[in-house]
Formats: sequence, C-alpha cells, structure tokens
Amino acid sequence: MTSVNELRETFLSYFERQGHTRKPSAPLVPDNDPTLLFVNAGMVPFKNIFTGAETPFAPRAATSQKCVRAGGKHNDLDNVGYTARHHTFFEMLGNFSFGDYFKDDAIAFAWELVTKEFGLSKDRLLVTVYSEDKEAAQIWKKVAGLSDDRIIPISTSDNFWSMGDTGPCGPCSEIFFDHGDKIPGGPPGSPDEDGDRFIEIWNLVFMQYEQEANGTRKDLPKPSIDTGMGLERMAAVLQGVHNNYEIDLFQALIDAEEEVYRAKATGDQLASFRVIADHLRTSAFLIADGVTPSNEGRGYVLRRIMRRAMRHGHILGAREPMMHKLVGALTSEMGEAYPELGRAQPAIEAALEQEEARFQRTLGRGLALLDEATDGLGEGAELSGETAFRLYDTYGFPIDLTADILRGRGMSVDQAGFDTAMAEQKKAAREAWSGSGDTASQAVWFRVRDKIGATSFLGYAGTSDEGVLKAIVSDGEMRDEVAPGDCELVFDRTPFYAESGGQAGDHGEIHFASGARFIVRDVQKRAGDLHVHVGELTGGSVKLGDKAELVANAARRQRIRANHSATHLLHAALRNVLGPHVTQKGSLVEEDRLRFDFSHGGALSAAEIEAIEDEVNAVIRQNDEARIQTMAPDKAIEAGALALFGEKYGDEVRVLSMGQPLTDEKRPYSVELCGGTHVARTGDIAAFVITSEGGVSAGVRRIEAATGAEALAFLKGRAQVALDLSDTLKVPLKDVSRKVGSLMEERRNLERELAETKRKLAMGGGGGAAPSGPEEIGGFKLIARVADGVGGKDLRGLVDEAKGKLGSGIAVFIGVNEGKAAVAVGVTDDLTDKVSAVDLVRVAAAEVGGKGGGGRADMAQAGGPDGDKAEAALDAVRKSLAG
Ligand code: ALA
Repeated sequence: MTSVNELRETFLSYFERQGHTRKPSAPLVPDNDPTLLFVNAGMVPFKNIFTGAETPFAPRAATSQKCVRAGGKHNDLDNVGYTARHHTFFEMLGNFSFGDYFKDDAIAFAWELVTKEFGLSKDRLLVTVYSEDKEAAQIWKKVAGLSDDRIIPISTSDNFWSMGDTGPCGPCSEIFFDHGDKIPGGPPGSPDEDGDRFIEIWNLVFMQYEQEANGTRKDLPKPSIDTGMGLERMAAVLQGVHNNYEIDLFQALIDAEEEVYRAKATGDQLASFRVIADHLRTSAFLIADGVTPSNEGRGYVLRRIMRRAMRHGHILGAREPMMHKLVGALTSEMGEAYPELGRAQPAIEAALEQEEARFQRTLGRGLALLDEATDGLGEGAELSGETAFRLYDTYGFPIDLTADILRGRGMSVDQAGFDTAMAEQKKAAREAWSGSGDTASQAVWFRVRDKIGATSFLGYAGTSDEGVLKAIVSDGEMRDEVAPGDCELVFDRTPFYAESGGQAGDHGEIHFASGARFIVRDVQKRAGDLHVHVGELTGGSVKLGDKAELVANAARRQRIRANHSATHLLHAALRNVLGPHVTQKGSLVEEDRLRFDFSHGGALSAAEIEAIEDEVNAVIRQNDEARIQTMAPDKAIEAGALALFGEKYGDEVRVLSMGQPLTDEKRPYSVELCGGTHVARTGDIAAFVITSEGGVSAGVRRIEAATGAEALAFLKGRAQVALDLSDTLKVPLKDVSRKVGSLMEERRNLERELAETKRKLAMGGGGGAAPSGPEEIGGFKLIARVADGVGGKDLRGLVDEAKGKLGSGIAVFIGVNEGKAAVAVGVTDDLTDKVSAVDLVRVAAAEVGGKGGGGRADMAQAGGPDGDKAEAALDAVRKSLAG
C-alpha cells in the first residue's frame, strides 16, 4: 500500500527528476494578497510570478502545499464530515511552469506519473478539457492515446480555473479515476456526474490570463502551468478505498480519537470522528502558522473550525478539553513533511485546550437553549435568526455551528434574520464576517508593487543614502506629483527600515534636490516588500523621478537596534530559565523600550526574573560580535535558529547569532531568523532590565524591558527611592530594610494598643472620664454609645461585653470611621421575645442613611454613610424603646 507520506515523496521526486525545484509549502496565511483569507491552492504563493510582478526563482517548481478552504470563494466547511472527499485542510501536490513548458509537457508529465509511477490502468482514467480548448484534446489523444469518448469537452466554469475573483486563471483539464460500476454515478458532463463513481484526481491549469477586478481579462506575460492534485484523494485511489477518511493518515488520527474519547468510530458517531480529524489538521496547521482564535478575520475562521470540532467532541461525550490530546498523533503522521508542526506543538496544544475549556463553559447551556427553541418543531422547520444570534452572542455558537446542529435534525436557520440581528451589532463584530481582516486600502499598494517592484533596503549598512522617487500615494490614490502636505512616498532604494518583525519604522528626513523636504514620521512595509515613507512634505512639490537624499535618524536607530538585539537575548534566556515551551507570541521594539509576549502558564517569580536579567547581562558583557549570515531557511533551522511561525521566508534568510553558550552546548547563545537591524557587538546593548511582567491572555505573558541609558535611568530611579528613604529615616542605606521592618512592627503594636484603648473608651471605662451607667428606657436597661474610630468587627465584642455587664438589657454601639457609621445592637436572651436586635438596628441604620441591616434577635449589625448622624441614631433607638 502506498502511504500518504510515500505518495507525497513520489510526486515531488518525480518532478525533481524533470528539472523542477522542490519548494517547501508556504505558510497558510498568504503574504502577497490581502483579499485572500488563506492559501487555498498550490499556486497562490506564486501568484506574483505568474502575473510577472515577481521574477521566478526557477523556471519550474513542485510543491506539496498546505491549503485551507473555509471561507471565501472555495469554502468546503459545511460539507466536512458528511461527504467522502471534503476537507477544510488538505495538501495540494502541484507542478508549476513559470513561462517555461506549456500544455504538451504538462500533459505528458501527468500521464507518465499517473500511469507509470502510480501504475494506474489506462482503462480506469478519463479526462476533461475546456470545450474551446481543441489543442488540449489533441495533445491528450496523442500523448495518452485516449479514445474520443474518454476526452470529454466541458463548457462550464468547471474547466476554467481561477484563484479567486481576481488573479491568474485559465482553461483547465482534469483527470478522472473510475472507481468501477459498483459505485453509482456518471462521467463528468453527464446528468449523474455528481455520483461517486468518477473522481477527479488532478487538475491541470493552463494559466493564460489575469482576471482584473473590473471584470476584464488580460493575457499573462507568458503562458504557464499550474496543477493541483488532492493528496488525500489520490491516496484513496492508490489505497483502494473510496472515502478519503479511510486512508492511512486519517485512520491513524481516528484511532487516536477512539482512545482519547473512549468511543467507537462506527454508526452515527462516524461523522463526528471525521469532522474532528479534519478540523484538528486545520486548527493545528493554522496555529502553527501564527493564527490564533479570535472574533475577527482569520482568527474567527479558526475559532469556528475549532468549535465545530469541539461540538462533535461533545457528541462523543467530551466534558473536558480533549482535542489537544490528539496533536501528538498528528505530529507523528505529518511532522516529518511539515516540521513546523513539531516546533509549534506546545503552542497548538495550549491554544486548543484553552479554547475548548472556554467553549465548554457555554456549550451545554447553548445546546439546552437550542433544544428548547426547537422543541415541538418538526423536520423542515427554521430556527429564528434572533435565537441563532443569541446563541452566537451569548453562548459563542458561530452561525455555521448552529446550522450544523440543525442539519442533523433536518432543520435550518433563518440566515437573513441572523444577519439583521448581527448588522445591529457594533461594527467590530460585523467585520468578523468579511474579508481577511486586512484593510481594503492595502489594494493600492499591490498596484504600486506591480508597477515599480520591490524597494531595495540599504539600511543594514547605514542610515543615509540616495534614491529616486518611484511612487506617490496621497488620499489612497497613486499620483505623479504632489504638493506640500501629508502623503506617502516610495523610492527605488532606501536606508529607512520599515516596521516589521515588531521593530518600529525609522524616522528621519528626505531632502530633494529641488529644496523640498519630507519629514518621515513612520515607515511601513506594504505588499510584502515596499518600504512606504509616511510623513509630511514641505517647501515645494515633488514628482516621480525626482532624486533625493534619504537620511534616517541615526541616534534613534541605534537605540532601536540595542532593543531589538536584547529582545533576541531575552527570548533565549526565557527558554533557558522557564523551558522550551516558551515561544514568541509577539514583540515590539521601539526607541525607548521593548516588549515581548510569550507562551507560559503563570506569573514569573522574582527569582526567575532575576535569573533572566542576569543571563542577558552576562551575554551583553561577553561583548561578542553579532554575526549575520544569509542561508536557506531549512539550513538555518537545522543550525538551531528559532523559526518564527507564520512567516514566509524567501530563498535566503538572515540568521542572527549572538553570544557564547552559557552551558556546554555547542551553538551560540541566541540564533534567530531576523530581518531587523542589530548591534555590532552585544556590549553595545550596555545593560538590560525588566521593567514589568504581567499576563496578556490565558497562557500568554508579557515582559517589558529597557536597555542602555533607559535601563540605567530605570535602575537609578529605583536606587533614588532607597536613597530618599535613607535620608528620611536617617539611617545608612544598608540599614533601610531593617529600619522599615522595625517601623512596621512598631506600627502594628501601636495599632493594637490604640484599638484596645478605643474599645475601653467606648465602654466608658477608660480615658479618665467617669463611666456613665446604663440608662433606663421603656422598662429596659440600655447602654447606647458612639465609639469613635472603632471598626465594624470590634463592635460585636463591645456589644457582647456590654450585654454581660447589663445582665438583662440592650446594648447599642455605633462605630464611626472616616465619616461612615457601623451599627451593632445586642439584646440579652431574656428580652428577645419583647424586642428584636434586628428591628432596632434598622431604626439606627435608617438614621445614618443605611439600608436594612441583618442578624438575629439577640445580635444584629448594619452600616450607613452618615457617621455624623450617630448621636441622632442613638436617640432614634431610645425613642423606639420608649414606645
Ligand atoms: N490551482 C488549481 C486547483 O486548485 C490546480 O485546482
């Protein structure tokens, strides 16, 4: 049997032998297209090559590309679990020609691979071509010797492939496998083509056009080839199974599920097993590429997928987080082909566990609400949009989750009603449903990028250089010329660093030969590799082609460099001190501080913080040279570089190594892939101090730190506090702690004594004043006192003591603290059937502006805001007793 892993390898090595460059899969989050949610086909990472905007790295390539189809043009989410071949995550095997070979070779390669390497019988294969593409039909006839009835012309969009509403596209030809007449279904193009007998295994796209947003189609610079073979489908064919979920890879995941959920993958439960297996892959790969569950954009798609799986886990009996326990099984199946899975495993597990714990808190109640709402409704009924919205808003049920549950009951949901309810929600929530979360205004930058190409960044070597103005954007539009005011400028080359990798963009000035000046407030990276200078033009207008001197603020850059290098050292120290589960969750490098978010369970202890600071400072003192090398990404990771998830790396990456190991390890103290700017030697950082540590969200901590002059200023500030104390306390610095300790002790003693004195005073027994005896009112003995400075909890003791003294009678004490009154009333047991402490305390409380009061007939307490009414409150009690 050909395993999934063998199949992938056979495909890629076949094309390598045919002169193709094997490339690793790009991350799932496309970095070249803001209109696309996720990479949904093998050609997406090469889109700019097809359109001619980017120069090809090689004439031919082959990949196994991670794809997610859940949202947007290609969305398979709703069908997963119920059909044999739908997935939200799948691998697409593809070979690509970038203006090199075209139809002839593409068809010949495909035929050879399928019939020779995979050994499929010609009798089981047939192909479709776009009806207008007579040439393709001819080639198939010649290359494969297929008879006319096995080359089926199709006139619909099924045989015209496009990436999305815009982008490269062209006619295509699909290869179908015939599972035999035991399975119902007709060939493509026939009325019963939707049956399961004939299954498409490979799509060859003859890329010829680019679809533009305005509906027109223009020719690509060179006809190219893009193909896509669904790995899971092909594996099913080669493994002689009909359902993709029966291939070895899914079987292994489903076996793991049976163990974790302690349930059997049979009968009605089978669909749940399949949903979980599919969604586990999607969630894990998305998290490994840096997506985290949230309520908007890509994060929301991830959350919907996770929750859909978790609901199916609930069907299998899960009442506590389970899904994270499956990640190990996934890594053993796919970790070799996709090493990012292993690297991100702790992060994936933590994210799944947290999301499941959170969702389980509302899942049960949400399901109960749903049961109630559908109780008595028959098949075909529709759930109101309002209820669906409540489920979404209060119980965290994405709409497609609700629809999925209802589907099992033969019901549907009023989507329009839901949308209306949703539309009333604030804008932020609404945005969760459309687009990738990137702004549409980005689109102009792709036009700029297509026109002028990437900016060369010269800032690793220095902070000033000359450049030619290549693009002007103001008010979101490209211009040829611009008058003084705010605008955005792009040059052919620049020494200005654009914000990326957490490092802030440079500030500075640009001097035009004409005398005009541009003040750079920020520099942003757009469309992948444009450095866009944002700021204000003064002293005259400028036009495309103008020459200028670009001068970034060198002093500021220097401080940013120190903070960026220190961030790398901090990352290494965190992993050494806390453990290898620490992974970067985000970072910010500015002129005067750095911030680093990372995965870790709880707050750091003072000892851990100190150990981290000590390590970083030790490496700073090594004053080792910071070494930058460029190498292939996989070589860098082999060399021990901490890869950051979700980044697309080019052929060459920059690897920054700093410091000597502090243990007997062989590799440098810190090795990371990084495009940022860094110090020349670690000693340039001068000093490092953590200024704060706290939590950001469950499982994510944040450290803020400072270096150089800022670190010294921070430490000096702390030292000054000690010096001031020494001065105030009039003891040498070294004795400050001891002195403060003994002062605190003294204070505690004094407080205790003071409380005792107050208590005595209140009882009328202290302070020199003659003790006044009990009053007689309405036939009761009464002790009624205002006790200044006695707190609520000491009042009870006073009341008890007074009751003891009275033998039979009533005690009322009102403590006044910071203007507020606390009332305590006691009634001796013999009198409780005549008067109740609760009644009396209410009378007093009403007077001091309090409400209610509680307790028992023999002892009750209350409070109120008006301490100055304490005497009046005692009078009110007297009056009430007098009857
Ligand atoms: N890009 C083509 C597809 O996704 C090969 O089917």
